[in-house]
Amino acid sequence: MTSMKDLPAWDDLVQHGVRLRLIQLNDLFAQDPQRVDALTFEGAGLYLDLSKNRFDSKALDSLLELARQRDLDRTRAAMFNGEKINMTEDRPVLHVALRAAPERDIRVDGVNVVPDVTAQRRKMAGLVDAIRDGQWRGFDGQRITDVVHIGIGGSDLGPRMVTAALAPYHSGTLRVHFVANLDGADLGPLLQALDPRSTLFIVASKSFTTMETLANAMTARRWLLEAAGNDQAAVARHFVALSANPKATVEFGIEEANRLTFWDWVGGRFSLWSVIGMPIALAVGNDHFDALLAGARAMDDHFETAPMAQNLPLLMALTGVWYRNVLNRPTYAILPYDERLALLPAYLQQAEMESNGKRVQANGHAVGVDTAPVIWGGVGTNAQHAFFQMLHQGTHWVPADFIAAIRPHHDLPEHHDGLLANCLAQTAALMAGDPTALDPHRVFEGNRPSSTILLDALTPTTLGALIAAYEHKIFCQGQLWGVNAFDQFGVQLGKTLAKEVAPALASGAVESLDPSTGRLIERIRARRQQP
Ligand code: F6P
Repeated sequence: MTSMKDLPAWDDLVQHGVRLRLIQLNDLFAQDPQRVDALTFEGAGLYLDLSKNRFDSKALDSLLELARQRDLDRTRAAMFNGEKINMTEDRPVLHVALRAAPERDIRVDGVNVVPDVTAQRRKMAGLVDAIRDGQWRGFDGQRITDVVHIGIGGSDLGPRMVTAALAPYHSGTLRVHFVANLDGADLGPLLQALDPRSTLFIVASKSFTTMETLANAMTARRWLLEAAGNDQAAVARHFVALSANPKATVEFGIEEANRLTFWDWVGGRFSLWSVIGMPIALAVGNDHFDALLAGARAMDDHFETAPMAQNLPLLMALTGVWYRNVLNRPTYAILPYDERLALLPAYLQQAEMESNGKRVQANGHAVGVDTAPVIWGGVGTNAQHAFFQMLHQGTHWVPADFIAAIRPHHDLPEHHDGLLANCLAQTAALMAGDPTALDPHRVFEGNRPSSTILLDALTPTTLGALIAAYEHKIFCQGQLWGVNAFDQFGVQLGKTLAKEVAPALASGAVESLDPSTGRLIERIRARRQQP
């Protein structure tokens, strides 16, 4: 695969970059009265306004040409058809199969995977109903009041973010908690507040080998067994496992009835649609979980069928490529104006950076261009009183997505109008600035771009569509940059080294470690000896 830089459209983009590098957004609006019409798009319930970005229709045409020259429509079809586009792991990439219509036929090695997906979803729905309506009882006959989802990375961030985002849909019969960190400060205080007789643990791990998750799960099991007089049968009443490695869940002692599976063709960071979404369904019920899947399916359909020039995920991806590669912006901000989307920046941080934070192409050659920017952000309006100073007056400007719901999900409409006014005012102020102030400290140079995404309301359906849009954006960017967005070898080295460091910390044998790490271990051990 050639580097993106070697595609014919790249030279055009460089020219557009030169032409537009210093242009004022205000001038772009003045030059083209149709600009808003030309640069706003709709699909699957999302409204995307790209008009406050530092490009014009001509530059966008070249970006679209870049996508064509990268054969994006062919690789998109390859993904939906179950071809092994995760070539470094020799797997298909089929999170779309997790929300596909039941009649769809998506084959992996000649076998339609949709019936298996449906069967696991049914099994999950049965467990969810039994837990929610109180048929499921703990070891001494009490109904479950608290669920603790134990997982990390993709087995945590998605379900945690969606569960928080759908708070108004929670039934209130169950409290759903999330534990990810190995730090005992995560699980410890939670256990103190819970009653083992009415607590259910969900152990969520695609590999079922992740150190943090297994350590937390084992501590939880000890805690339960202590309360249950060491009766091993209690584990079956209090543990469910979600994994693509059923053998390991058996070894952990999880009964068949409490085991839910998914498949190696579901990437961890794309897995919230699988049984990994069980805590979401427990919180909001199966019908709302289905609506979440339906929203994602609507975005899948849009992504698969909308023409390139109207295709939201592709346009989001191209906007990112424009800033990362043509205007050389190293970071990208995600700014939801919705308290319930407070976890979206952290979720997208993993989704985008673990996917496209890569430096070689599929063929092992250097990509030759910059890839994933640093994704960061925070929720508005809080962020306005934190880092927006830098966005408005810092020495470097940052492209950003502002995300807001038109209708609120609470009974304080006047708050929502204020929230929306702030969201829109910030995008307008970043663009317009105030370059005329006499006091240099009060000058806002403006011309700072943003995209705005509007949802009618933050519902399971629109949330599903929003997340799927970002998933497909990530796919498109991986294709454009020529990297495999679906492996994550970069997280292995630290995991392997942790296995070397742990015994050194215990024994003091630091000879195999670098001098700095060795000295830190000596310091820790020496200080621990002191009272
Ligand atoms: O953080 C690295 C990673 O491999 C992620 O890709 C994954 O989501 C996470 O660990 C958890 O992995 P597992 O679900 O196998 O426990």
